[in-house]
Amino acid sequence: MQPVLEEKQHIGQLFDRIASTYDGLNHGLSLNIDRRWRRKTVARMVPAKHVLDVAIGTADLTIEMLRRGKAEQVTGIDLSDQMMAIGEKKCEAKHLSVEFVLGNAQHMPFDDASFDGVTCAFGCRNFSDLDEGLREMYRVLKPGGQVTILEFSYPTRRYIRVLYDFYFTHVLPTIGRIVSRDKTAYTYLNKSVKSFCWGEAFAQHLHDAGFSNEHFETLTLGIATIYTAIK
Ligand SMILES: C[S@@+](CC[C@H](N)C(=O)[O-])C[C@H]1O[C@@H](n2cnc3c(N)ncnc32)[C@H](O)[C@@H]1O
Repeated sequence: MQPVLEEKQHIGQLFDRIASTYDGLNHGLSLNIDRRWRRKTVARMVPAKHVLDVAIGTADLTIEMLRRGKAEQVTGIDLSDQMMAIGEKKCEAKHLSVEFVLGNAQHMPFDDASFDGVTCAFGCRNFSDLDEGLREMYRVLKPGGQVTILEFSYPTRRYIRVLYDFYFTHVLPTIGRIVSRDKTAYTYLNKSVKSFCWGEAFAQHLHDAGFSNEHFETLTLGIATIYTAIK
């Protein structure tokens, strides 16, 4: 088994370990660009009554969609209860009522067609089987509903790639290791981004899962991409 896949089996524990430093590192290491990416992602959402936020983590995307009125009600699912505990506290502080469910995105405990919209920010890359996760998103979405996904991608321009590779290979794992005091988590992040698909290839996975009208939009020189598709 490849090391990246081995690590994926422990993904829930990995995020449990870094949960307390996750938000600070996210915003710090991305120079707050991640906030802008989530805002753009929410802007691409079609307003929906009940949204499922897959891999909700510390709930930043959920908070943004509720704040912008893109969802009336949100349910989140995640493998890490420590990440969700932080998300729950943030939602409570903002008087937002969100349902948090501990579970695997690849086998979700929800009925078919039970949500008006599905979202996922920086979660898909961590699935041990991407197609299984996307098929589950398709299954729980109502016909006509939209899936909106934000994920890391890989810059297309060569000189940007050089800077990107340096940052992801050296700067990010080093700062991540020092701040989170976890030896492996941020090395995993680097490996998981590089070994993941993006753009047309990711859109094809959405299509294969049953979705149609797949669109994608790259952000910040291709470092991240927003995908939308319809059931
Ligand atoms: C990088 S964090 C993203 C969290 C949040 N969506 C955000 O935008 O900050 C990835 C999250 O995906 C969760 N995750 C990874 N694989 C999962 C799976 N198979 N099922 C549910 N959650 C998963 C992790 O526990 C973690 O909280």
